[in-house]
Amino acid sequence: MAQEVRGVIAPGKDEPVRIETIVVPDPGPGEAVVRVQACGVCHTDLHYKQGGINDDFPFLLGHEAAGVVESVGDDVTDVAPGDFVILNWRAVCGNCRACLRGRPWYCFATHNAKQKMTLTDGTELSPALGIGAFAEKTLVAAGQCTKVDPAVAPQVAGLLGCGVMAGIGAAINTGNVGRGDSVAVIGCGGVGDAAIAGSRLAGAARIIAVDIDDRKLETARSMGATHTVNSRTTDPVEAIRELTGGFGADVVIEAVGRPETYRQAFYARDLAGTVVLVGVPTPDMKIELPLLDVFGRGGALKSSWYGDCLPSRDFPMLIDLHLQGRLDLGAFVTETIQLDEVEKAFERMHQGDVLRSVVVL
Ligand code: APR
Ligand code: ZN
Ligand code: ZN
Repeated sequence: MAQEVRGVIAPGKDEPVRIETIVVPDPGPGEAVVRVQACGVCHTDLHYKQGGINDDFPFLLGHEAAGVVESVGDDVTDVAPGDFVILNWRAVCGNCRACLRGRPWYCFATHNAKQKMTLTDGTELSPALGIGAFAEKTLVAAGQCTKVDPAVAPQVAGLLGCGVMAGIGAAINTGNVGRGDSVAVIGCGGVGDAAIAGSRLAGAARIIAVDIDDRKLETARSMGATHTVNSRTTDPVEAIRELTGGFGADVVIEAVGRPETYRQAFYARDLAGTVVLVGVPTPDMKIELPLLDVFGRGGALKSSWYGDCLPSRDFPMLIDLHLQGRLDLGAFVTETIQLDEVEKAFERMHQGDVLRSVVVL
């Protein structure tokens, strides 16, 4: 029997979000229904609402979530009712060329639930990133559920489902930050701060945080930054070079997604260093660089999608490190809010007041 639950939808371009009754079908083959316990508010949800992702309104928003599996399709064996899970938006297929080559984090055939959640009048909903978790329950592909230690608080666990994983993964998976490395992180929002926390976890010796907002730099320090640079008043490339014995950083992580900050990252790294772009640019952005500099400086220019994570490998490991006190994921939760406060959370996010507001259900 399909169930009716409350959920937050974006009804149309730039219209305020509102709570509606959502019809959640029983899970079919390969699907699971999850009782959502917590879901973080991410920029991507705002982009959906603004029509910046696509026009498939109405959207069921929310995608950084944790909860308990309520029911699964007949053929599902990986997760079972009662399992505590973090939802991921890249359930890998196991069969595409990327998966078969042993690089499943590049999977290009990731899957979502086949059935649609709807409004009570039958209108089909588009769940944000195939999740839609600003709702009491949601229908996902079983592969989108990653089991982790239930001892962790749901509002903390859910954040690993998107922004925090993207940042940590940019450092430890894409950037391959290692013991003794120098790292610079440009842009210290939730993603940049997670890259800082990930760099600390990986043993980086020097972690330089760059932002244009002193409040952000203060938080960055508590996440593990050893030095901070306000790039509104100080040239970040020169500052990073000075702080690294004149060389530049081994790894520079760009967590803004703009041409000017990418350029800073490009020139702030040591010869043969690595640039990791985890900030997401818009389609109009372009960058011009002397090709000789690209050649002459060597090293690697990489981008990081979802922190190049493999949820089944990375989520349980990071939750364990958190529970051992070695990774403070709780520091990313600025506030917990109710389902009817998502619109307000978007405003606070826009003002730069929060790392993450998390809806608890
Ligand atoms: N130089 C340095 N820092 C900047 C600049 C700039 N020119 N412009 C903005 N910033 C800082 C902001 O002050 C803020 O601290 O970048 C940070 C961006 O943080 P958030 O807006 O909180 O965004 P976040 O969730 O961290 O995501 C950052 O990563 O995954 C992507 O889509 C995401 O592109 C976005 C980026
Ligand atoms: Zn997100
Ligand atoms: Zn695949």
